[in-house]
This record gives sequence, structure tokens and C-alpha cells, in this order.
Amino acid sequence: MTKLFGVYVHWPYCARICPYCDFNVYKNRAIDAEAWNAALTGDLENYAARTQGRKLTSLYFGGGTPSLAPLPVIEGVIETCERLWGFEPGAEITLEANPTDAEQSRFEAFACAGVNRLSLGVQSLRDDALKFLGRDHDATAAKRAIEAAQGAFPRVTFDLIYGRPGQTLEDWREELSEALSLGAKHLSLYQLTIEAGTAFAKAVDKGRWAPPEDDVTADMYDAAQEMTAAAGLPAYEISNHAAPDEESRHNLVYWTYGDYVGVGPGAHGRLTEDGVRIATETALAPPDYLAGAPHQETTLTQAEAAMERLSMGLRLTAGMSFTEKDPFFAEAGALERLDRLIGDGLLQWDGETLAATAGGRRILNRLLYELFA
Ligand SMILES: C[S@@+](CC[C@H](N)C(=O)[O-])C[C@H]1O[C@@H](n2cnc3c(N)ncnc32)[C@H](O)[C@@H]1O
Ligand code: SF4
Repeated sequence: MTKLFGVYVHWPYCARICPYCDFNVYKNRAIDAEAWNAALTGDLENYAARTQGRKLTSLYFGGGTPSLAPLPVIEGVIETCERLWGFEPGAEITLEANPTDAEQSRFEAFACAGVNRLSLGVQSLRDDALKFLGRDHDATAAKRAIEAAQGAFPRVTFDLIYGRPGQTLEDWREELSEALSLGAKHLSLYQLTIEAGTAFAKAVDKGRWAPPEDDVTADMYDAAQEMTAAAGLPAYEISNHAAPDEESRHNLVYWTYGDYVGVGPGAHGRLTEDGVRIATETALAPPDYLAGAPHQETTLTQAEAAMERLSMGLRLTAGMSFTEKDPFFAEAGALERLDRLIGDGLLQWDGETLAATAGGRRILNRLLYELFA
């Protein structure tokens, strides 16, 4: 298989800020498309100079809401990537979009620009839940957007958030069953996380509402595993489900700990230079980014890189390549911790592939904590 190599572009603006979201996002404002093109192109050129001879297997426009970005910005990035690296045959170009009508009218133009996979932030197929989540669309608009996207792009995925207050296991099963009937070959199913500093965190702190108990959300997770598998879209990662060959190639760059360039405000990247892993991060605030603020670069120690690689790879159902020569073993007590987790039935290892078991994936954060403790 070609070694995966991707570019991530962060578009930081949204029509409004959802009360649960703690991504690097800002309310939409007048955009100077030329200034954005210049800043993104400059960054891409700098990274291309360090990654010569490689072709891209994926390009991902994430956010924020990149479907609100001026079309010339999207076109400009795709053209620049083609010029600087070129794309492998079958390369995946994904764009995240919100399912509002305004954005649907732009689907064809995005497809013409080269986007071949659309990721829709549906979040729910229930109007009351969409209102609670502070979304600009209702369930009818979401279904309309899914259909329009399926007409415009060869590949379509959508996101749902479960574990909302008041949601029962039965509600979730019904909603997911409806979602599975809509013909998408990839779904991202996220459990609602209360992120510090968000409007939801404040509401929960004040006792206005509480998310469901852990055992309810664990049952929802289990139901999602069972129902998606039965529908032919089994989990290939903790929150991601796909039909065969429909996995997100770009996200697989992260989970298989490949190299990727990150541009746009607050974007992260990972490069391997002379066998050493480098973490890159751009300036967070859009004005600083546009003004050319320097990127941060950190050289990861072998132990840090090993830890990152395990944290990513164990998210995958298929696990990761992992032998007794892995730098993970350089840390004191590493073998004992690994053996204990294998003994507890949370990990399995045949000397070449290490994977979390179904039980391990269910409590992955705790498992990782114990693996590195
Ligand atoms: C950064 S958003 C970008 C997509 C697009 N702007 C949207 O909102 O539809 C990516 C996805 O992360 C998920 N997400 C964001 N915050 C979350 C949270 N606190 N809990 C669970 N899922 C969350 C949502 O499903 C969202 O679609
Ligand atoms: S969930 Fe999406 S639309 Fe909402 S604030 Fe976050 S990035 Fe923006």
C-alpha cells in the first residue's frame, strides 16, 4: 500500500458557535479571500520544500465550517497541492459542511473544484435535539442535504452526536436506524462530550441539565457497534463506521501515525525527518495566522512519539503494527503494564499486531492511561 501522506486545512469560521464545541472556531466575518489564499499558499510551499518527492493520498478541509469559505480559497488550495506535490490516483479530497440550504447550493461547485468526499455535520435527525445543540438546520434540511450531497459527490459521510440529555437507549436506536437507512457508506458517531469553557459546560456546572449516566451511554455505544455492523458499516475506529473500502483515508493518516501537513489557524501537523518525529502547530488566532506568525515546532522524543503512535493506533479495530523492538519498551515497566492489560482482556498482541479488544476500545482512555502510567 502507498504510504499515506495528507494535508489538513483548518477553516476557522462558522455561522454561529455551537454550545458544545471547543474547536478553534470564530464567528463568520468578512473574508479577504486573497489574503487567505496568500497565507495558505505560503505555508503549503514551505512544507512542500520539506516533503519533496511525496504525493498526497488525501486532502482534508476541516473546521470550523469550510463549506462557508470562498470558493476561490478551496480551489486555490487544491490547485496549490496539485502543483506542489500532486495527488496519488484515487486521492481523497474531503470537505466538512453544515447541512443548511445555503451550503447545499454550493455542492456542485465544490465537486467541480475537485472535492470528492463530503462530510456533513448532521448531529441529529430530531428537531428538538438540533435546537438543543444550537444548530441552524432541522431534520428535514439534514435529510435534504444528505440526498443533495449523494447526488453531487461520489462519497458522503455524516456525523451524529449521541448521549444527549434526556435521550434514551430506545430513542438512540430509532434515530440510528433511520440514519442507517439513508444510504451513507460512512458514519461518525460521537458521544456528546462536555468540553471545558463551552456554553454546555456552564449549563452543566449550574445544574441546568446533566448528560445521561455512563451506563446509558455505554449501552448506546454498544448498540451503535451492533447496529452498524448489522447494516454493513462496522466500526473501524472508536467513533467511525464504514462499508469496506469506505474508511476515511485522511483520518487513517492520523490513526496509522503517518505524516501530514497542517495549515490554517491552529492546525497541527506531523512530519518525520531523519527518522525523528516533528510536531508542528500554526498560530491559533486568524489575524495572527494571516499576519504570518511563526509556527511552533517540537521535536518529539522517541518515548513521546511511541505514546502518540499507540494512542492513535489502538483506536483502530484492526489495531497497529507493533513488535518487541518498539521504542515503547524503552520505558521502565512498559512490558509489565502491557502484559497486565493483555491479561485483563483489554489488549491482544501476536508479536506483530497490537489491538484493543472490543472491551478495551469501550474504555480506551482508561486503557491508555494505564498503558503509560
Ligand atoms: C469540528 S466539527 C466540524 C463540522 C461542522 N462544522 C459541523 O459542525 O457540522 C466536527 C464534528 O465534531 C463533532 N463534535 C464537536 N464537538 C463535539 C462535542 N463536544 N461532543 C461530541 N461531538 C462533537 C460534531 O459531530 C462535528 O460534526
Ligand atoms: S460544531 Fe461545527 S458549526 Fe458548530 S461551532 Fe463547532 S465547528 Fe462550528
